[in-house]
Amino acid sequence: MIFRQLFEPVSCTYSYLLASRRGGEALIIDPVLEKVDRYLKLMEDLDLRLVKAVDTHLHADHITGLGALRDRTHCITAMGEQSKVDVVSIRFGDGDRLGIEGLSLDILYTPGHTDDSYSFAMDDRVFTGDTLLIRGTGRTDFQNGDARMQYESLQRLLRLPDEMLVFPAHDYKGDMVSTIAEERRCNPRLQVKGADDYVALMDNLNLPNPKMMDVAVPTNIRQGLLQAEIARRGWAVTADEATKLIGTRDVVLIDLRERGERDKRGQIAGSLHVPYPELQESIGAGGVLHELATTTGKRLLFYCAFGERSAMAVQAAQDAGLLTACHIEGGMGAWIEAFGHEADDGIVRNSADFSLVASRSTPAACQ
Ligand SMILES: [Fe+2]
Repeated sequence: MIFRQLFEPVSCTYSYLLASRRGGEALIIDPVLEKVDRYLKLMEDLDLRLVKAVDTHLHADHITGLGALRDRTHCITAMGEQSKVDVVSIRFGDGDRLGIEGLSLDILYTPGHTDDSYSFAMDDRVFTGDTLLIRGTGRTDFQNGDARMQYESLQRLLRLPDEMLVFPAHDYKGDMVSTIAEERRCNPRLQVKGADDYVALMDNLNLPNPKMMDVAVPTNIRQGLLQAEIARRGWAVTADEATKLIGTRDVVLIDLRERGERDKRGQIAGSLHVPYPELQESIGAGGVLHELATTTGKRLLFYCAFGERSAMAVQAAQDAGLLTACHIEGGMGAWIEAFGHEADDGIVRNSADFSLVASRSTPAACQ
């Protein structure tokens, strides 16, 4: 495995680069905007392709590198389902897994520092964000922080194996790694009798707000792609417009999400499954979707969870010369909001009558 712990000295943030092999896919946890060039150079040096960029929570002390990495590498961005960030590609919940080629993170919802705080466990190590720090814990006095919830989250982390390595999102003293057993024994904030003691301890910290907070939080909330720009170019349809297109002979519906997302949220009936990381190969000359679109004249209609991956897919398809490609703005989220019909078997079905819609003319919104 390739593993790099990367440090940003202004906010004392640790970011983590993971990959299973040289020349393979990579994932980065908690990237910092100012260090994006460094990450990209390192990935070039290691011959890695960034596939996913993940934040453990909405940061208040630095600006996330998620948006910049997505714009420069077309990677998937991911955060927890409680996150107030406008749009990320994937929103995960407790018990989900986040994978790239050759490795997989187990996702633990560990609220308390913020209400969108997650930890990621993998093999011999756990990335604890600002929930469990080395000889400390994340503050709980803003961003819907909750000391009692954090106490429960910490108990959950402390039940992990003793020897598990702890990699936090910050350290202000220069420590880089600890273990679960070491923190259980030596972390002063964990030497409390119970939840009430912990809450009292956290309530009396009286910390000043982070210097960057007023800039970082609003900036970090607005990470989404400007889907409006894709729509302005006529490359987007609403969920309602999509029902009129789906089932017509000249349209191919393509689901860009991962298998786990399809299993969890259902899918629009009749869609082909092409996971986003495989898209580039598929829409390039000689690729399956490229050939399908060029030989049959069919229009590619992409969708994903929230419209983020599909907006990138539309741009990539347009760049590959597939000029009728478009996407469902807002993705599955918008579809469910519009129609709200998730069938018992987990398959989201198009309620439209195909025999009727097939005879309708195709709206120009997609062109
Ligand atoms: Fe934080």
